[in-house]
Amino acid sequence: MRDALGREVRSVRISVTMRCNMACVYCHREGERPGRSELSAAEWGRLLRACAEIGVRKVKITGGEPLLRKDLIEIIENAEGFEEVSLVTNGVLLADYAGDLAEAGLDRVNVSLDTVDRKLYRKLTRSRFSPDDVIRGIEAAVSEGLTPVKVNVVLTSETVKTLPTLVEELADLEGLKLQLIEPMGSIPGFRSAHAEDGLRALGEYEPKLERVRTFHNREVYRLNNGMAIEIVKPMDGVMCEACTRIRLTHDGKYKGCLMASPKPLPRDNFGELVRTLKEYVRTRDDTFEVHQGTSVMGRMRGDVLGR
Ligand code: 5AD
Repeated sequence: MRDALGREVRSVRISVTMRCNMACVYCHREGERPGRSELSAAEWGRLLRACAEIGVRKVKITGGEPLLRKDLIEIIENAEGFEEVSLVTNGVLLADYAGDLAEAGLDRVNVSLDTVDRKLYRKLTRSRFSPDDVIRGIEAAVSEGLTPVKVNVVLTSETVKTLPTLVEELADLEGLKLQLIEPMGSIPGFRSAHAEDGLRALGEYEPKLERVRTFHNREVYRLNNGMAIEIVKPMDGVMCEACTRIRLTHDGKYKGCLMASPKPLPRDNFGELVRTLKEYVRTRDDTFEVHQGTSVMGRMRGDVLGR
């Protein structure tokens, strides 16, 4: 179904936990404050069935770190029937779970890997993990057919410098796509970089513009080694114009945009749940501010990234 701005809502992003085993310096935490309450796998099944009723065809599971949920497999099984179910993960536990995830019906994964430089990785993730753990996870995901595996790189002047090495290390893996993501909000201790800086750093791979995806108006480039590069500019109003995604928070509330305030959903009556979702989607215009200018950046700094 279409929203107030004429956009067809096709996908839902669900945050199944706020827990994480990392503390990435840039993390927007899905625009939420840390929270403890988590819905059960059955409750997620019910919410996803309601989403399917209003025409949602794709599900993206995110966190926190979703692999920290012991019953993640059950959540994936409860998402049966969707065109695509994907997972966003930091990748350090992925090598252990890739097989089970694929068997449960997961289609794809997005893995965060900003750099293969160990020191920089530890500084960015504020953790003791190594990029090697993540690469093992990516390899496992590729071999289990969880493809295309999208590798997320948040662009800072530091991660841009290590981009060529990252591409080199991942070059032999088939079915991999790199997503160059411009940071939302400022990152303490780091200098944000633009997609163009990333593409310039990859000059030796001669990136060529291939197409502009209808999804979020994203540009896709192709490197001369065959790797695809997708550009993500989250603070670009152009992206919002083509946004077809709604979100459900860790505690089961609705959001029309990452930066929108959560709205409650009825817990007991399924018909009422579907009606409420429909009404939220019908009036969905949460990105209006983005088109208006700078107010959202102010909110990101003061509210979402505030700590
Ligand atoms: N800016 C851009 N991307 C972000 N992510 C999280 N926080 C931010 C931010 N402030 C994205 C990264 C990461 C994924 C889990 O969420 O792409 O890989």
